[in-house]
Amino acid sequence: MKEKLVVGNWKMFTDRASAQSLSQQLVGGLETCGSLSSVRIVICPPYTVLETVSTIISPSPIMLGAQNCHTQKEGAFTGEISAQMLTDLGCSFVILGHSERRRDFNETNELVGAKALAALAAGLTPIVCVGESLDQRESGETTSFITSQVLGFARAVGEEALASCVFAYEPIWAIGTGRAASPEQAEEVHQIILSVCKSEYSQKPQVLYGGSVNAENASQLFSQPSIDGALVGGASLKAPSFITIIQAAQG
Ligand code: PGA
Repeated sequence: MKEKLVVGNWKMFTDRASAQSLSQQLVGGLETCGSLSSVRIVICPPYTVLETVSTIISPSPIMLGAQNCHTQKEGAFTGEISAQMLTDLGCSFVILGHSERRRDFNETNELVGAKALAALAAGLTPIVCVGESLDQRESGETTSFITSQVLGFARAVGEEALASCVFAYEPIWAIGTGRAASPEQAEEVHQIILSVCKSEYSQKPQVLYGGSVNAENASQLFSQPSIDGALVGGASLKAPSFITIIQAAQG
């Protein structure tokens, strides 16, 4: 069975005390779960608690990720964090092009591509988010928009780098709304992403679903053939729900 990837996106939540407590609960909870041989687990806390969390999860199977990085290795870029700095803190993944960043910081496919190349050069696996708005879905533009996002990113990074990236399909209307895509809706878009990568670049990246994944809907989502895991926001901030999602991925 193909390994699933379950990623927790903590967004701009947790201070040192709550991050410590949440990661301890996760490590402790996973110890009682039995075999987790077919799931890889990543948590992406805010930069400020990466080191705190890293120390706690290091003896466990949980891997560390961040939520963004800069395109350059170092330099006069006030307020920015490079991919190398993340590797130095023990990260092995980085979420890039989240719709909240595309919306609030005008991140384009080209910029996300440049960040992904920087991440790969530093040894991080980029988790590249794509997803349509409600307007786009309702006006029948989902396929064309997702195709253009995936192609725009793929052209920016090239075939070789694309092979090392993970995609996350995150419909904007499903993020933080409690209204997840149905397993069928998600599967349909995952297949679009895969067919673009295959026909244009002969690549078959791992594709995660994100957007209101929770303890109740995870199993059904994971039962779809092209859903290779989940990018989880709100439900990753509570150890019991995140652990249930991990168990659902283990099957
Ligand atoms: P959500 O967020 O699970 O709270 O909908 C997902 C995300 O934004 O990555």
